Amino acid sequence: MNHGPARIEINEVGPRDGLQIEKTMVSTDDKVAFVDALSDCGYARIEVTSFTSPKAIPALADAVDVMRRIRRRPGVIYTALVPNVRGLERALEAGTDEMNLVMSCSETHNRANLRMTRDQSFAELSQVLAAAAKAGAPCNVSLSTAFGCPFDGDVPADTVLDLAARLVDAGAAGITLCDTTGMAFPTQVAALCEQAAARLPSTALTVHLHNTRGMALANAIAAWQTGITRFDAAAGGLGGCPYAPGASGNVNTEELVHMFACMDVETGVSLEPLLAIVRSLPGLVQRDLSNALLQAGPRLALHAPPAWLAERFPADA
Ligand code: COA
Ligand code: ZN
Repeated sequence: MNHGPARIEINEVGPRDGLQIEKTMVSTDDKVAFVDALSDCGYARIEVTSFTSPKAIPALADAVDVMRRIRRRPGVIYTALVPNVRGLERALEAGTDEMNLVMSCSETHNRANLRMTRDQSFAELSQVLAAAAKAGAPCNVSLSTAFGCPFDGDVPADTVLDLAARLVDAGAAGITLCDTTGMAFPTQVAALCEQAAARLPSTALTVHLHNTRGMALANAIAAWQTGITRFDAAAGGLGGCPYAPGASGNVNTEELVHMFACMDVETGVSLEPLLAIVRSLPGLVQRDLSNALLQAGPRLALHAPPAWLAERFPADA
């Protein structure tokens, strides 16, 4: 097996990608407590919220309050999703460290999600990039549907790469390749990551995976083997885009962290405090979250042998 980087970074997106789709309205206090708890787990970045239209994403209408009230742990970068200039203004006002701009690689998802054509989004994001540069705020751009669109189907790699290159020219410091509805598969992920790294050698590349079809961890390995060091993930596998039919949760942070820990790849994230947060999530979002790792425990969470073994094999006792 090809070995990837010895150290990776995890961007926790549960408070944004996770809570944007939940039916239960989580209170501002609970969101702040969720982010504060995540701050102690060792993440490189936490995507705290999104400065989108409250009509489009009612669940995150309290973005300014949440961003202002969280505890800022030194060393953690607090980011937020920004779709337009209005969103940038609110994000700056709230003290966001880094902006995560968003548009889609496919036309129909861009229209459904952002109510703009791709050309309009590109023009809007170019303005956001220029304004953010003046304000000294670093920007990453998340490219939705980079591995397939639930409306338009396959998205040509060149469409993704050309769009990414234009956004980098316009000032984006990083690009995230997003598998919005879990359409990616490992060989495709490896190919696109390799092409993106070759075309944009000085750009920070991140991979954003959803586990809609059970391939998220396999896709993460495929990306890692090409040298990708930045991964988005959501605690408890929360997540999904409300404007993409069939969208479901992000790759589980705890599963991703556990897998890389087994492989001696440093993620910076401590599993124990993270699992404690994951156990509290059903209370936060008022629904069950099935989770194999939580049920089974880490692979070396061993069990006491059956009591009768001592009677059957007394010599070993
Ligand atoms: N923050 C707060 N309010 C905003 C806003 C922002 N970033 N952008 C627009 N608005 C408000 C406008 O002020 C206007 O308010 P009004 O009706 O009280 O006058 C209203 O929203 C409509 O504004 P408009 O510019 O016409 O936006 P729109 O309705 O065409 O929606 C987006 C465009 C991009 C703002 C909206 O589609 C959106 O926020 N999408 C985000 C979707 C998302 O986050 N998906 C999941 C993540 S991938
Ligand atoms: Zn997502």
